[in-house]
Amino acid sequence: MNTQLFTSRMASIPSISQSQLILKKPQFISSTKSSLFMTPISKPTQSLNLFVLKTKKVVVAAAETTAASAPEEEKSKKRYPGEGKGFVEEMRFVAMKLHTKDQAKEGEKQAQEKPLPKWEFTVDGYLKFLVDSKLVYDTLEKIVDKADFPEYAEFRNTGLERAESLAKDLAWFKEQGYTIPEPSSPGLNYSAYVEELSKKDPQAFICHFYNTYFAHSAGGRMIGKKVAEKILNGKELEFYKWDGDLSQLLQNVRDKLNTVAENWTREEKNHCLEETEKSFKFSGEILRLILS
Ligand code: HEM
Repeated sequence: MNTQLFTSRMASIPSISQSQLILKKPQFISSTKSSLFMTPISKPTQSLNLFVLKTKKVVVAAAETTAASAPEEEKSKKRYPGEGKGFVEEMRFVAMKLHTKDQAKEGEKQAQEKPLPKWEFTVDGYLKFLVDSKLVYDTLEKIVDKADFPEYAEFRNTGLERAESLAKDLAWFKEQGYTIPEPSSPGLNYSAYVEELSKKDPQAFICHFYNTYFAHSAGGRMIGKKVAEKILNGKELEFYKWDGDLSQLLQNVRDKLNTVAENWTREEKNHCLEETEKSFKFSGEILRLILS
């Protein structure tokens, strides 16, 4: 990824907040209503990947018209993309659509902002990103340790924890003579938000938990590598190292997430999926600190 491409990726992240049509080959009309919910479209002759994430706009798939004329028993078989493989696949599907094409090949989000002309990363900007990220991981890890809802306890000591490795990295920067900044509003806001959410809304909380740890293991690592090449002489930070095999650790957490979600109603699952956009918005603001 070149710097130009990277900056365009970064620039587009915080603007992920609009309606998202999740259709393979969309044929739709749209009208403006302010509701937020998911509608699966059951239609036996169409791909299983048909569903609409409604946010500010209500998007009515043309396919729905045909679904209306399908036999009753087929209409009741509502399918959600990824459903057959478990709930993590559903969360992943929604998350991938919220990337831009530049960020990931499955992305469908339109980049909203123009790429910045030329950018030099600075250690100061990167430090702000690391400090705010640490605050969020501290909060997530404290929440699962405390486990206000019993299912959170499943996510203790998964091996994906990042707070300790970030503490080591910040100590290293300090040894190099850098001043470690105080957390700034993107990290403070996100941390306060998930803390509050975790006490009353486990489905929404789990969405943030999934997206934060899995995003870091994917795009986060790519970004870390790029920044390290540009400004840290290629030094690999602890933030990007895991004890053990990362893909196995991720798989263990996927299995646990799938098990927890098996006890959720369809409405609770949809509620969890709907939270994905917020996760992108908050994380995007923290990512942007790298360019500050
Ligand atoms: C500049 C920003 C970003 C870039 C370049 C990026 C890039 C990527 C890439 C390349 C993948 C792997 C796709 C694959 O499996 O083929 C990925 C996966 C993913 N990303 Fe991002 N991403 C970014 C931001 C985000 C944000 C802000 C979130 C949400 C907070 C997020 C959530 C995810 C999730 C949940 C996955 C799936 C991981 C998995 O299945 O293991 N990403 N991203």
